[in-house]
Amino acid sequence: QPLTSCLLPTIKARLAPEIWRLLEQASNEAQSRGWHLYLVGGGVRDLLLTEANQPLLLQDIDLVVDGFHRATDDGAGLELASKIQQMYPQARLSVHGEFQTAALLWHKDPTLGNLWIDIATARTEFYPYPAANPEVEASSIRQDLYRRDFTINALAVRLTSPKKGEFSRKGDLLDFFGGLLDLRSRQIRVLHPNSFIEDPTRIYRAVRFAVRLGFTIESQTEEYIRYAIASGVYERLRLENQQAPALTTRLRTELKYILQAEYWKPALQLLADLEALRCLHQDLILTNQLWWQIRCVSRWLKIIDPENNFDHWLIRLEVLIAHLNPSERIKVATNLQLPKDSLQRLKKLEQIETEVIEKLPHYQRKSEIYLLLRQYKYVSLILLSVRTSKSIRRTIWQYLTRLAKVEPLLNGNDLKNLGYQPGPIYKQILDNLLIATLDGKIHSYTEAEAFIQQNY
Ligand code: CTP
Repeated sequence: QPLTSCLLPTIKARLAPEIWRLLEQASNEAQSRGWHLYLVGGGVRDLLLTEANQPLLLQDIDLVVDGFHRATDDGAGLELASKIQQMYPQARLSVHGEFQTAALLWHKDPTLGNLWIDIATARTEFYPYPAANPEVEASSIRQDLYRRDFTINALAVRLTSPKKGEFSRKGDLLDFFGGLLDLRSRQIRVLHPNSFIEDPTRIYRAVRFAVRLGFTIESQTEEYIRYAIASGVYERLRLENQQAPALTTRLRTELKYILQAEYWKPALQLLADLEALRCLHQDLILTNQLWWQIRCVSRWLKIIDPENNFDHWLIRLEVLIAHLNPSERIKVATNLQLPKDSLQRLKKLEQIETEVIEKLPHYQRKSEIYLLLRQYKYVSLILLSVRTSKSIRRTIWQYLTRLAKVEPLLNGNDLKNLGYQPGPIYKQILDNLLIATLDGKIHSYTEAEAFIQQNY
């Protein structure tokens, strides 16, 4: 068990004092029950990765409690979380995975802000040996770490003091699998060959961490990824596994993280290089055409929707799915449990495409273009535009950026002031006014008034 110097002063110096205090309280509670408490996962990774003098903003804290020598301590995580919740009544406590993991959540707390603490109970096999045996001591936390995805995420810092006869000290880094070395050589490495077969979402996580941290995927690990994909792992698991909904939810979450990140382009490229898009559908390959489509859609979205009213990540995913045969699109989107409007868009895409391609080239007047395209949602038009000819694309662009924004020069109140009785006629008048405006027949309020008086 390689040891480095005590990490607690570093952690204390870099965490917000309130969070440090909370960790101390948790470790005291664990200690008083004869348990060990560890900080694990991304928190330790980020602590070791960021500059020593930089504050560390931890919003997701993963703790593991190891109540190794009492067979009844299965719910140790829950007990500890409940105790902390008594001290922090504003925190919400939730439990998942049959009492193995408890979570404490703070939302916009005046001192702790948004904070999420997971407290898991180390999976303990019951050892009948005395607790003083250091191998027994290490076994359950080691097993817990061994179940994790990558060496850089399988590091732990012990937050509790040792018991009599134990080697390690409070604040020690537990690095059973060479995580520190991989952090230094900037590599993503799995802990065992079956990792991606057991959990194919880790393929997406490997890509996400590699691109986000500027690491490379270690070559043997890359082999394991390629092997898992070639064996159709995702599809097999989905078909065989009772947990399929959880699997697809996790895959969708990973896709979301990747496609909404600033670094989505290199991440998508890396996914494609690994042929990992085949986890979505066996035929999905990032061709040059598809790559162009997805970049073009993203550029359009940036301009048309600078405030991010649409889910840009989801639309990027729809572009990928739309690349498949129409009959396959819905299957993939349903498997991924995409939201209803997303499913609708993909379902209707083929039909809208046919209508627009058939009609739009025959329309010259702006009002004709407007009346055709206004039947469709913006996002559907964006999805469609990259799949059609340049001239149709230009016309859709003209509609989205200009025509769709034109308003009639008068409104309902103006009609009332002109003496028209409110009723269905209003819509008709305003629509015709808009058409005349779009076609350049009306330019001013006076011309609009004259137009109405002439026609109604
Ligand atoms: N984990 C895993 N396999 C997965 C998902 C998660 O082994 N498919 C483990 C990893 O050890 C990870 C921990 O669970 O460190 C917590 O998961 P998560 O919060 O998703 O990852 P973080 O490492 O905290 O990453 P981030 O910084 O993106 O939150």
